[in-house]
Amino acid sequence: MVPLSAPDARSAEPQIRVVRGDGSFYQGEMLSKRSGSGVRLGGLALIAFGCGGGAHGPPPTLPTAAKDALLAPRDFATITDRDERARAIFLEASRVMLHPRCKNCHPAGDGPTQGDDGRPHDPPVVRGPGGAGVPALECTSCHQDRNAELARVPGAPSWHLAPLEMAWEGKTPGALCEQLKDRKRNGDKSLGEIAEHTAHDELVAWGWAPGHDREPAPGTQAAFAALVDAWVNDGAACPKDEVKR
Ligand code: HEC
Ligand code: HEC
Repeated sequence: MVPLSAPDARSAEPQIRVVRGDGSFYQGEMLSKRSGSGVRLGGLALIAFGCGGGAHGPPPTLPTAAKDALLAPRDFATITDRDERARAIFLEASRVMLHPRCKNCHPAGDGPTQGDDGRPHDPPVVRGPGGAGVPALECTSCHQDRNAELARVPGAPSWHLAPLEMAWEGKTPGALCEQLKDRKRNGDKSLGEIAEHTAHDELVAWGWAPGHDREPAPGTQAAFAALVDAWVNDGAACPKDEVKR
């Protein structure tokens, strides 16, 4: 567990706010600065602020995950309100979904993006039918069913783009959450099927084995799937923040 420092020490960091039903909220932020020991910290620090209702005691403070790790569902057990717990768990899971390894293949434009800065795919390629590219420039004419290390081409079985309605690029965690629950925008999946997809899909799995020098998504696929599962079991409430991550 990493002790939380004073909020003003990181005042330049993006703020995250989780608002509860009674108007009180948690406020936290993404940690992205180097600590004194040179270890890169990351993740969502939730700094407790009770305000509004006054009926609740001070909200619990969550541990902080390292940049390359994820909190586990049990880390949220101190949050007793079910919706509030679901929101906090989703925020943690959204660190994976909004990571470049996922976002690059869930773009908002007409083609994939690449790299940690989400620049346009080079060479330029377009979605084409079913997100698989166009004849003569299909995704699988370059992307094999596994990473090609020498050519640095990433790969996984049936490599193709997520459809436009599943675009995650530029979404806030709250907007992403609402979209994931919407059967018109999630490939007509139930919440159970979403949890199943996150646990077993091979394109999702690639996010933790991206090859070459690409940074993997935080944690492991199993740890991410456990968060999504816990979020579903807690009723799948969505965070109300408006912060892009
Ligand atoms: C002409 C070959 C070629 C075609 C066709 C192609 N790609 Fe790529 N793609 C590459 C190469 C090479 C890279 C790696 C670039 C690098 O990292 O320097 C790449 C990288 C990517 C990445 C970025 C991975 C990351 O996180 O940095 C995504 C996503 C991607 N391609 C998706 C697609 C999709 C979807 C299609 C089909 C619509 C497609 N590509 C078609 C060659 C191709
Ligand atoms: C190579 C491209 C690619 C990569 C990389 C990728 N996805 Fe996807 N994703 C897809 C496609 C294509 C679909 C739609 C297929 C389907 O519905 O079965 C999809 C659908 C999904 C869905 C279900 C529906 C929805 O609402 O979006 C989830 C959840 C998902 N992806 C999670 C992830 C996560 C998490 C990562 C990163 C760890 C990731 N994906 C990386 C291509 C990709």
